Amino acid sequence: MSQINVRVDGVAYTDDVEPRTLLVHYLREQLGKVGTVIGCDTSNCGACTVHLDGAAVKSCTVLAVQADGGEVTTIEGLAQDGALHPMQKAFHEMHGLQCGFCTPGMIMASVDLLRENPNPSETEIREGIEGNLCRCTGYQNIVRAVQQAAGEMAGSASAREEVR
Ligand code: FES
Ligand code: FES
Repeated sequence: MSQINVRVDGVAYTDDVEPRTLLVHYLREQLGKVGTVIGCDTSNCGACTVHLDGAAVKSCTVLAVQADGGEVTTIEGLAQDGALHPMQKAFHEMHGLQCGFCTPGMIMASVDLLRENPNPSETEIREGIEGNLCRCTGYQNIVRAVQQAAGEMAGSASAREEVR
């Protein structure tokens, strides 16, 4: 067993884990963060995507011990003070999901995409989420949702600038 100290969705945890425990299993089985899902066993689908120190990672490709000392955000920590993140809101409003299985990972990947590129083209959105598979939607409404969230987040960023 190895001891890890990690913050997950704003809460500090100290836990013993097997050195081979995957981050996704730690999140789901030890912390009960079942909003992060497992869709494959080949590191392909992206359903397990979370943020580790601010960047999107497939949590089935990361060991829990690699998150030691780090900050993890899951889909369950994205809403702030009861308000959905603009990306969650956009997926809801633009119907960016059907069965919803890919949605937690798709949203976490899309938030990271806008962190790196706040104003992506449609092609850049499609390329940015190519590590996340959806078997239902055909991606069209997912792309629209990311575009809507980009617009809303740009609007609130410029509003913050004006207040300064
Ligand atoms: S569960 Fe499919 S990439 Fe992690
Ligand atoms: S909404 Fe079903 S897999 Fe994407």
